[in-house]
Amino acid sequence: MILITGATGQLGRATIEFLLKTIEPGRVAALARDPHKASDLKQRGVDVRIGDYRDYDSLVRAFKGVNTLLLISSNDIVDRTTQHLNAVRAAKEAGVRHVVYTSFLRRTTGPDGLAVIMQSHVETEKALADSGMTYTIFRNGYYIDMVPDLIGRNVLETGTIFFPANSGRVNFVLRRDIAEGLARVLTSDGHANKSYDIGSDRTYSFAEIADILSEVTGKKIQYVSPPVEAYKQELAKHNLPAVFIEMLANFGIFFAEGGMDVPDATLSRLIGRQPPGMKEFLKTIYSKK
Ligand SMILES: NC(=O)c1ccc[n+]([C@@H]2O[C@H](COP(=O)([O-])OP(=O)(O)OC[C@H]3O[C@@H](n4cnc5c(N)ncnc54)[C@H](OP(=O)(O)O)[C@@H]3O)[C@@H](O)[C@H]2O)c1
Repeated sequence: MILITGATGQLGRATIEFLLKTIEPGRVAALARDPHKASDLKQRGVDVRIGDYRDYDSLVRAFKGVNTLLLISSNDIVDRTTQHLNAVRAAKEAGVRHVVYTSFLRRTTGPDGLAVIMQSHVETEKALADSGMTYTIFRNGYYIDMVPDLIGRNVLETGTIFFPANSGRVNFVLRRDIAEGLARVLTSDGHANKSYDIGSDRTYSFAEIADILSEVTGKKIQYVSPPVEAYKQELAKHNLPAVFIEMLANFGIFFAEGGMDVPDATLSRLIGRQPPGMKEFLKTIYSKK
């Protein structure tokens, strides 16, 4: 039995869809906090189990009889380390043999402002390595699906990408392609105790993204990398929550220091094709406008 956590989220759901193309639904279990969110999966024969990363006993119950677990990192970053360590301990106690974990791509652990995100990944990876279970780490690149938020939802009106990443290059990846790679790894051998950098063999600077966007839309888009404080002040004018502003600014700093400048072709080998590039992605989002 293969159990997918975060099954009600975007990556978990997409992974289950890929799994169901190649294996029987009876071999797939899905962890959900709220069973209503997974009722369609249940109808399709997936074994929906109830559990919460914060409730250790619920996880031990949910993981019984599971051979391979996909542990999708929590989207609640406040006490994420505790949540993940609960899941790793529960997996061990329930007799899980192999854990695949979705971590984050990184050359450095980034500025202090990202510690709340990075520490949980560092500690979860270590807990898995120390657990005695076999594991595969997916160090996922930055979701390309989230590029419109980074470059500003109104970029076509302003004509400017205003983001403090300087000339830092980033490895971006489509959630759906990660899901396909995860499904491949969950159903094949040869991945024990391996860490994979998940993205593409091509990284992008924001100046390049501006050029590609200009080409795709036919409108001249320029890139400006402001001082971090000026960036935060600009976002504050648009009444964004302070925590969101801090997060985006810290990602800018992280990108500027080359923290995600890690090209890697592992994902294309796993899925047997080249992931779409930035031009292809931006076309799908902006070419209709
Ligand atoms: N690489 C990147 O660029 C990037 C960007 C954003 C996020 N991430 C990370 O990647 C993960 C997966 O991405 P996604 O797009 O699928 O996120 P998502 O759509 O927000 O899904 C998160 C999933 O985690 C579940 N979850 C949250 N807290 C939980 C808890 N206490 N116990 C059990 N399950 C819990 C959610 O359940 P509910 O449906 O019940 O809320 C949901 O199923 C995120 O959670 C985040 O850690 C990576």
